[in-house]
Amino acid sequence: MSKILKWLGIALAGLAGLLIVAAALVFFLSESRINKTYVISVNTVPVGADAETLARGEHLAITRGCTDCHGANLAGGAFIDDPAIGRISASNLTSGRGGVGNLYRDEDWVRAIRHGVGPDGKPLLFMPAQEFYYLSDEDLGALIAYLRTIPPVDNVPPEDAVRPLGRILFLAGKFPLIPAEMIDHDAPRPEAPEPGVTVAYGQYLAVGCAGCHGQDFTGGPIPGMPPGTPPAADLTPSGHVADWSEAEFIAAMRTGVSPDGHEISPVMPLDAVGAMTDDELKAIWLFLQSLPLGA
Ligand code: HEC
Ligand code: HEC
Repeated sequence: MSKILKWLGIALAGLAGLLIVAAALVFFLSESRINKTYVISVNTVPVGADAETLARGEHLAITRGCTDCHGANLAGGAFIDDPAIGRISASNLTSGRGGVGNLYRDEDWVRAIRHGVGPDGKPLLFMPAQEFYYLSDEDLGALIAYLRTIPPVDNVPPEDAVRPLGRILFLAGKFPLIPAEMIDHDAPRPEAPEPGVTVAYGQYLAVGCAGCHGQDFTGGPIPGMPPGTPPAADLTPSGHVADWSEAEFIAAMRTGVSPDGHEISPVMPLDAVGAMTDDELKAIWLFLQSLPLGA
């Protein structure tokens, strides 16, 4: 009996030891990527200040989702707060206390938005720069011009804390913690299409949809979302959305109700997508129609 207990004790101690080693490994592997320093050669973009540019910048801040994470007043705050995954705070982008507005030079804005890297060279956590990397110089310049004019708000967002499950999911490639890793920082700049109701401009606008609907737009479970989140819809001609008309698509994005009366889940960023102009939504519709049939 005592022999069995002794062996059991040794086995349990061994197991505990293994767990400690595994936990330490997870911590150090993730921490070394979080603390990596990136050296980015930043190309600044022309930043205007006229009324038309500022209005364009505000439109981009809403339709590209900046306000979804950074808040309607762009003063930041925690937007993921989970005891197992961790706490991720969006930064205060204003020039109030706790904000970066007064500290940021043009090149800092470009490095953060286009490359997902802070002024200290460290990667910005969960900031989807891989989507904003494609913004044209004109659009990025308008966005920066607008961000410089937003009213200051005092707000110190809570510190980030990436907890064990968040680190494990990150190491397994299931949690997009470091967008800077998804960008080829030295590649030649991609050509941005002229604005218009074209497939190419629709693709430019739909880059942000792919984060949830998938690179091939066939939908399915969304990476990093808690269980119970509805899967993103198939937006290719093989999905149910292809049976809609263009007008029904635009109405669904504006009202949040699809043609069959289904109320679209709030996971879908309707504030951002619904704020797009008719021409922008028409371009996205054209692009979706042009996609190959999903599986
Ligand atoms: C999915 C959520 C999300 C969206 C959408 C998003 N951000 Fe962020 N952003 C973050 C998070 C989280 C951080 C903080 C990263 C950190 O602290 O490591 C951040 C940081 C930043 C920073 C760096 C500030 C600093 O602390 O140095 C800038 C600048 C920024 N975002 C601008 C933007 C702009 C402009 C947009 C829209 C084009 C945008 N963000 C959209 C989540 C988001
Ligand atoms: C944050 C994740 C997310 C992003 C980003 C996103 N979607 Fe969605 N979308 C969803 C989810 C989840 C659903 C399923 C909603 C439901 O079943 O109620 C959905 C559903 C849809 C539907 C079908 C609605 C219905 O009633 O069947 C359309 C159309 C759509 N999205 C278009 C878009 C377009 C266009 C973009 C980009 C401009 C986009 N989505 C970006 C998550 C997202």
